Amino acid sequence: MTNISTGERSARVSTRYHPAVIDFGCDYNPEQWSPEVWLEDVALMREIGITVVAINIFGWALLEQKPGVFDFSQLDSVIELLHANGIGVNLGTGTSSPPPWLTTLHPEILPVADDGTTRWPGGRQAWCPSSPVFREYALRLVREVGSRYGSHPAVRLWHVSNELGCHNALCYCDVSAAAFREWLRARYRTIDAVNAAWGTTFWSQRYSSFSEVLPPRLTLSTPNPTQVLDFDRFSSDEMLSYYLAERDELRGVTGVPITTNFMVTAHIKTQDYWSFAPEVDVVANDHYVDHRLADPLLELSFSADLTRGLAGGEPWLLMEQATGAVNWQPRNLAKAPGAMMRDSLIHLARGADGISFFQWRASVQGSEKFHSAMLPHAGIHSTTWREVTELGKALGSLSEVTGSRVVAEVAMIFSWEAWWACDLDSRPSEEVRYLDQAHRAYRALHESGITVDFVAPGADLSGYSLVVIPSLYLVRDEDAAVVESYVAGGGHVVVTYFSGIVDEDDRVRLGGYPGAFRRLLGISTDEFFPLAEGETLVLDDGSGAGIWSERTTATTAEVIAAYASGTLHGRPAIARNAYQRGVAWYVGTSLDATSFANLLQRAAADASVPTTPLVAAAGLEVVTRRSADADFVFLINHAEHPVGYFGGPATELLTGAPVESEIEVPSGAVRVLRIPATSTDRQI
Ligand code: GLA
Repeated sequence: MTNISTGERSARVSTRYHPAVIDFGCDYNPEQWSPEVWLEDVALMREIGITVVAINIFGWALLEQKPGVFDFSQLDSVIELLHANGIGVNLGTGTSSPPPWLTTLHPEILPVADDGTTRWPGGRQAWCPSSPVFREYALRLVREVGSRYGSHPAVRLWHVSNELGCHNALCYCDVSAAAFREWLRARYRTIDAVNAAWGTTFWSQRYSSFSEVLPPRLTLSTPNPTQVLDFDRFSSDEMLSYYLAERDELRGVTGVPITTNFMVTAHIKTQDYWSFAPEVDVVANDHYVDHRLADPLLELSFSADLTRGLAGGEPWLLMEQATGAVNWQPRNLAKAPGAMMRDSLIHLARGADGISFFQWRASVQGSEKFHSAMLPHAGIHSTTWREVTELGKALGSLSEVTGSRVVAEVAMIFSWEAWWACDLDSRPSEEVRYLDQAHRAYRALHESGITVDFVAPGADLSGYSLVVIPSLYLVRDEDAAVVESYVAGGGHVVVTYFSGIVDEDDRVRLGGYPGAFRRLLGISTDEFFPLAEGETLVLDDGSGAGIWSERTTATTAEVIAAYASGTLHGRPAIARNAYQRGVAWYVGTSLDATSFANLLQRAAADASVPTTPLVAAAGLEVVTRRSADADFVFLINHAEHPVGYFGGPATELLTGAPVESEIEVPSGAVRVLRIPATSTDRQI
């Protein structure tokens, strides 16, 4: 905890946020409890070592009970109480949900769905991102909160709104329609350019003026795909612009770092976080284990790595997770004993410098009353309380990990824009979902014991030995050129099917698929052959495949495996092209998990990237963070039995035990080896 004395306040400038130790925190909603309970809360927070709490996330209706009349007495008391107890504050601007008086006074701020129906108050986030009226009221609150607490020594971080776009990312109201037209005018300048980009000669959709253009409201048939894609881009930009408005308001009155909590998660895709991330002073993410997915824990690691990518490899904060069940999945599964510790340490292993929870104390009212908390309904005589106490101790023993960076030699290109475009209607197969393809590639790397960094299209790839590009359906010319010159210079890439197909307007690239990467990959496809539901194929190297195939000719590539069954029998399925000084692999089908992992291990060996498939197969996830002084090797045992790992001499940080050369990691547990640096010219 860094406290800043009054004398130092004026010297503070807005800067990146670097916690001195691993942050251990929570969302705290004292407004749901009486002041006597607050005293118990802070005493318990101190007991388990809480360093920072997020407050005032949903504070608006209490702070401003009538338009323009502010009452900060309760928030003052809470902040002073936390400060007196040495607990830092992650202060919400409070604008996440408008109070009922505002939606009553200005019903025009309410969001409208694509079918034209209003989304009413009574839940949360009932506001249109483009509404100038909402923005005016919200920014007034931000000014009030910002100037009152902007120099308060307890305030360590600003928390703008909450999960921007969680519910209200896409609004189709008339105000949004007007803002969309302005956005289009800025992007295209003329309506003819919109017509060209959207291909409106198709189905008599040609526009004569901007005033005729609408958001993609519900249509009878499939809508214009580029209109939908541009609306996704617009909506993402609108929410970012809203964040920037709050941030800039704060900048005027406070030198404390500013952020908001992202949702890098499988079920929300409305925000292009590559454009958002440079605007926050520290990247913060909320992650909830999603039991609707085939492999929830794999997605946890994927999300943590992608969040680190957004942070440019710097440490980031896990702003929210659950100690146990959530309340918003069809079946809200509790966590097995030890799972919360393991999940927290996976985030830490993958670059987090802070672990926080939603929420501190379980509510007794409202729709989240069955959501888990650090302090459950049962109180301190509970497994959860014992486990959060243990987590506090564990984070304390890992404090020297703070600031270290994850070591990765392999990158994966990930794109929200490609996600939006790939998942539009009327594609060759509804089974080709962008995120699913990215997860499959990630799993293959994971099973090979390879740690991966996520990068944006167009990012510098020169620091990586191997780059994996799953189903990058939409790619801009200049971003495809970066991949090509990386390979020309000696890099290795693996590109999977349905990549490079369209340009930024969702316009198909002609002359054979995969358009943008055809020359690089040394192949050409003249027709897609997506598979029927449940259909599988076999390749002549024994690999199994499903979902997709395509009729491909190798132009300059070497055929690594061909179809041994189905219509395309004998045609290339996997190819390897030596391209100038580098190598480009093409995977034209959806390999089963084992075959995909085998292929990536082969590509990794080709690129001299070390793999540890046997360690991964034993159930051990191994991730290394590096500082100037040491490597911190996180060993996470997913197996149902203990697993041994050779590494040392080292110190195991959670137990403090010395490790000569081998350590046994108990089932479900995590161990962290501190291996002192032996070389002075280490890459950090
Ligand atoms: C989100 C929100 C929190 C809470 C949790 C519940 O992350 O930010 O306010 O609703 O979900 O899982």
